[in-house]
Amino acid sequence: MTVQKVGVVGCGLMGHGIAQVAAQAGCQVTVLEADAGALEKGLGRISKSLGKLVQKEKISQADADKTFGNITGTGEVKDLADCDLVVEAIVENLDVKNTLFKDLGALCKAETIFASNTSSFPVSEMGAASGRPERMVGLHFFNPVQLMKLVEVVRTPTTSDEVFAEAKAFGEACGKVPVAASDTPGFVVNRLLVPYLAEAIRMVERGDSTPADVDAGMTLGCGYPMGPFTLLDYVGLDTTMFILEGWVEKYPNESLFEVPALLRQKVQEGKLGRKTGEGFFKWEGDKRA
Ligand code: CAA
Ligand code: NAD
Repeated sequence: MTVQKVGVVGCGLMGHGIAQVAAQAGCQVTVLEADAGALEKGLGRISKSLGKLVQKEKISQADADKTFGNITGTGEVKDLADCDLVVEAIVENLDVKNTLFKDLGALCKAETIFASNTSSFPVSEMGAASGRPERMVGLHFFNPVQLMKLVEVVRTPTTSDEVFAEAKAFGEACGKVPVAASDTPGFVVNRLLVPYLAEAIRMVERGDSTPADVDAGMTLGCGYPMGPFTLLDYVGLDTTMFILEGWVEKYPNESLFEVPALLRQKVQEGKLGRKTGEGFFKWEGDKRA
């Protein structure tokens, strides 16, 4: 792997985890975050996560200190100019992502690889916005990044062979199993997972079941580690709504992508899931209350 300097944009649920696994892979990581409070919170989560790994004797305290020391936070996009790879993990809004990639395209050195952690949007559109479509790839990590073993490496029709191979090698260095995916809505996993989550909400909307019973059904009946409502809270109800809204705009006739009214209502009420302390369930920190 030639990637040594990594920029991560966004230090929320996903960005903090991506920054951590990249630093654990030995990279120098600069995390760009628009919100100073979110940056502080994200760095705090990294520190806590490394602490857990030390406690479990998976890494030494010296390794944890070295990893944490490899991560620098910033509020200035110019600090990403000399990165070998920039991984974007900001809000699921294509216009906002395109603006970022346009700025990065104007700023970064010619060799920089651009990657998006988008859950659902066309990676090729961000490549076009950057002005360097051959250097754009999707790197779709899963939540929680520290624990989930998969990364989807999304190849657009213009991604160069070299960029795809480097992105795959970076995913492996981060301890993940890379799976190649095409630039289609939701790639492999979310094309299956997100309609399933939406259908679970519709079932409750119809009054056919409750979140607790649906979750019991899918954990005890199918062996899933979390039921769909716990997982919705875990992912973030805002993010799930943004994914569906983006798809509805592009594919208005696909009923599987419809946004359930109950999902909109929860987001309007600020009940975004684990990150706000309440979604379909109540949360105390990272655990269900
Ligand atoms: N860093 C380090 N260690 C961590 C950690 C972190 N961030 N988070 C948890 N751990 C540790 C815990 O301390 C715990 O350790 P012990 O066993 O020593 O206590 C261990 O990992 C397991 O954690 P928990 O006990 O909290 O919970 P668990 O056993 O239920 O496992 C889970 C947690 C791995 C998240 C599991 O519930 C799971 O696999 N859930 C499904 C997650 C999933 O489907 N993710 C995909 C979401 S969709 C997506 O990401 C794509 C998208 O675009 C929306
Ligand atoms: P989040 O809301 O937890 O974090 C996003 C962060 O990005 C926020 O802290 C915000 O302040 C910051 N941000 C927004 N615009 C910015 C900008 N222009 N520059 C710098 N920082 C900016 O969101 P998340 O759950 O981490 O999701 C991030 C991305 O990862 C989204 O594209 C999402 O679809 C994708 N994703 C999410 C999950 C999940 O389970 N939540 C899983 C895989 C992929």
